[in-house]
Amino acid sequence: MKKSMDGLFHNPAQEPRPPRGPRLLITQLKHQHLDQVMAIERACFSSPWERRIFEAEVVFPQALCLAALALPQGLLVGYLIMWLVVDEAQIQNIAVHPAYRGQGVGKALLRQGLLEARLRGGTWASLEVRPSNLAARRLYASLGFAEMGRRPAYYQPEGEDALLLNADLAWLDGPGGENP
Ligand SMILES: CC(C)(COP(=O)(O)OP(=O)(O)OC[C@H]1O[C@@H](n2cnc3c(N)ncnc32)[C@H](O)[C@@H]1OP(=O)(O)O)[C@@H](O)C(=O)NCCC(=O)NCCS
Repeated sequence: MKKSMDGLFHNPAQEPRPPRGPRLLITQLKHQHLDQVMAIERACFSSPWERRIFEAEVVFPQALCLAALALPQGLLVGYLIMWLVVDEAQIQNIAVHPAYRGQGVGKALLRQGLLEARLRGGTWASLEVRPSNLAARRLYASLGFAEMGRRPAYYQPEGEDALLLNADLAWLDGPGGENP
């Protein structure tokens, strides 16, 4: 089977096409991707997840793990880890390779993740984000997330607060499911 047809979540009709940047395949994140994931994770976060956490996530039944592969080479340029808990989609991790940011990769990944969650019965989504992370906040706002609260000193050791963001997923049912 061709690698591009190997993903559980590949649906050519819904394959996101960012207006600029690489042509993407959003597919299931697998163990074979984890070397590339770890390189991006370490480049993105001051407290990166350890590899064993990703190893557990890719086989955890409640986790929805997506990879963004840049075509035609299939280079992994981003990933999303989401948990489906009853009707709630909890965004656990999302990151894009620094060289591929600002090109629609994060939005394509998150939109596809929210669509998959909706198809599995999700009605709302939640996440935490640093107030200082303006790129992530803009991404989340563009897909319907709004601030619902704040957890003081959530991120350690810096002691930065976490903003709590929620999104109602009903907008994905609208014509095209393009925008909230
Ligand atoms: C947050 C992150 C995933 C965004 O990925 P991305 O591929 O660069 O985002 P996109 O290109 O899809 O942009 C999505 C939206 O965010 C906006 N955006 C992206 N980067 C931005 C920046 N640096 N400043 C302001 N807005 C930005 C885009 O303009 C776009 O908004 P629009 O749809 O209204 O035009 C990426 O910056 C990243 O990996 N950051 C490090 C890891 C991280 O912080 N993860 C989130 C933890 S909560």
